[in-house]
Amino acid sequence: MGAINSVLQEHRVFEPSAETVSRATISGMAAYKALCAEAEADYSGYWERLAREHLSWKTPFTKGLNDSNAPFFKWFEDGTLNASYNCLDRNLENGNAEKDAIIFEADDGKVRRVTYRELHALVCRFANGLKSRGIKKGDRVVIYLPMSVEGVAAMLACARIGATHSVVFGGFSAKSLQERIEDAGAVAVITADEQCRGGKNIPLKSVVDEALGMEGTGSIHTVIVYQRTGTPQKTVEGRDVWLHELLAQQAEQCEPEWVGAEHPLFLLYTSGSTGKPKGVQHSTGGYLLHAVLTMKWTFDLKPEDVFWCTADIGWVTGHTYITYGPLACGGTEIVFEGVPTFPDAGRFWKMIQDHKVSIFYTAPTAIRSLIKAADVTASVHPRNYNLSSLRLLGSVGEPINPEAWMWYYENIGGARCPIVDTFWQTETGGHMITPLPGVTPLVPGSCTLPFPGIQAAIVDETGNDVEWGKGGFLVVKKPWPSMIRNIWGDPERFKKSYYPVDFSGKLYLAGDGAVRDATTGYFTIMGRIDDVLNVSGHRLGTMEVESALVANPLVAEAAVVGRPDDLTGEAIVAFVVLKQARPTGETAKAFAKQLQDWVAKEIGPIAKPKDIRFGDNLPKTRSGKIMRRLLRAVAKGEEIVQDVSTLENPGILDQLKQSI
Ligand code: PRX
Repeated sequence: MGAINSVLQEHRVFEPSAETVSRATISGMAAYKALCAEAEADYSGYWERLAREHLSWKTPFTKGLNDSNAPFFKWFEDGTLNASYNCLDRNLENGNAEKDAIIFEADDGKVRRVTYRELHALVCRFANGLKSRGIKKGDRVVIYLPMSVEGVAAMLACARIGATHSVVFGGFSAKSLQERIEDAGAVAVITADEQCRGGKNIPLKSVVDEALGMEGTGSIHTVIVYQRTGTPQKTVEGRDVWLHELLAQQAEQCEPEWVGAEHPLFLLYTSGSTGKPKGVQHSTGGYLLHAVLTMKWTFDLKPEDVFWCTADIGWVTGHTYITYGPLACGGTEIVFEGVPTFPDAGRFWKMIQDHKVSIFYTAPTAIRSLIKAADVTASVHPRNYNLSSLRLLGSVGEPINPEAWMWYYENIGGARCPIVDTFWQTETGGHMITPLPGVTPLVPGSCTLPFPGIQAAIVDETGNDVEWGKGGFLVVKKPWPSMIRNIWGDPERFKKSYYPVDFSGKLYLAGDGAVRDATTGYFTIMGRIDDVLNVSGHRLGTMEVESALVANPLVAEAAVVGRPDDLTGEAIVAFVVLKQARPTGETAKAFAKQLQDWVAKEIGPIAKPKDIRFGDNLPKTRSGKIMRRLLRAVAKGEEIVQDVSTLENPGILDQLKQSI
């Protein structure tokens, strides 16, 4: 963990303004400390109190944490509730029926407003439609939809009938979709004819057809298709049904299926360091509790706010901060179909202006690319837009570099909006380490302090706490309500990944390196310590990309590493040995392009290697192990200072240093 000790020294501190403190739900450091102390004194009792106050239960639970089968923890397990009831019905009951739940803006700029009453009716009809197709509690339903009201409604309709949804990001390939369908044993897919992004129509239904043509998808009996663009589609008799036709036959009332708090609300596939993506299984009660609490405390959501999380529902950020969190709090939110650069790179700023967005949550990659665009084209600079409606900004998905933080703070937030740099993961369900706007003095590049009740810590290889100022492994010492419950169908992998024996099986291992500031104790995340890459805030396993490459008939061997990238945070560099002679010059370029397209087809465009290098071989030890640390140095263009005496074939490094 040597590198982690040399953390950048950041001395700028931004205290919360008096106005922010006075309006905040958690107001002042004393209030934060009081919550932490309450959790310290009675851990389960603390979460029980919050779960009673913030969620609507059908049957109240009698107990919070059950740790009798650690690390398979349970929370509130004898309570029953329904997530869609919490997001919809209770808003109808408490005066929000005519309030906008969703302001949808399409790729082409068309706006559609949906009230809570309308969303409730849509979800009920959708849920009845699912039931009419024989889909029932406990079934898994794959959702492969664009950003849309229907996407959010599909998730809530599954929740309403107790079906477990598994959303697959619309950018994933047929093969990735097939793998997820098979692993989940899904019975239905909900998709659209096409999606619209950046002025282009991109197929979805035909990708589903391709996936369902592959082996292992025989469990699917229904495909529901939302007509987005109207481009004619092939349909399979008996299997495929248009969403509008299905909805037309359904009643607007649907009694929620009351499920136990531990009932799996969703599976979401994410990359690990080895093997295929893992189906992260989340609960209903504990997950929803954290979604609500973090909306209220981190984002300080108030009834008059317009909240905009720019993530896609295909990622966990879209689950917690588009579908469940904002709606369970009765908020008004933006759902955006398009991309930040269409029709130009001022799109986000124009939308904030048009919809008077007050809370804006995005990823550092987006900020960095928009900084660049504004530098080049003055007309898309945020100064051209009225952003005065903003009062709070958020960042998620990857470390935010202090320069990007300062630009965001000054140019978007007008030096008046706090930035919450929220550290969390697919597995954690919601924010783990984050500033609270009315509490925490901000330091650019630091996610600051744990959310009240979260026992985050930094330990060494043996699981002992390291001193502040020293780097180590980020862990969580106690189970928390919204944590991952299992890896779908693979409890052994769950234990090995998150509760490894190295830490006596008692600490949740996040997989990130981190360090705490020597005086303030603030956390700074240093990045993954495993073979997981973070490209534009998207998580990818090096093994996944390697497997995709070696599946190509031309490829004999491949090794993939990450390299820091100014725009995407990390970029993928692939070292490839072909079955034929090592290509050079134009031939190498043509092969590289072919392999990039291949990876896009195997996994999705997000996994395309940025740089491909060809060698006669890969650097290996005499026992045949690929020396990845050398490849990382080569990828970064660093001088090789490492000891290469154990290397079987040192000459190979010179070949691999040559980019094409
Ligand atoms: O490495 C951390 C990084 O993203 C990983 C989790 O990725 P994923 O499960 O796809 O979830 C992303 C959205 C929650 C983490 O292990 N990460 C996430 N947020 C931050 C971060 N790194 C630094 N700072 C953050 N705020």
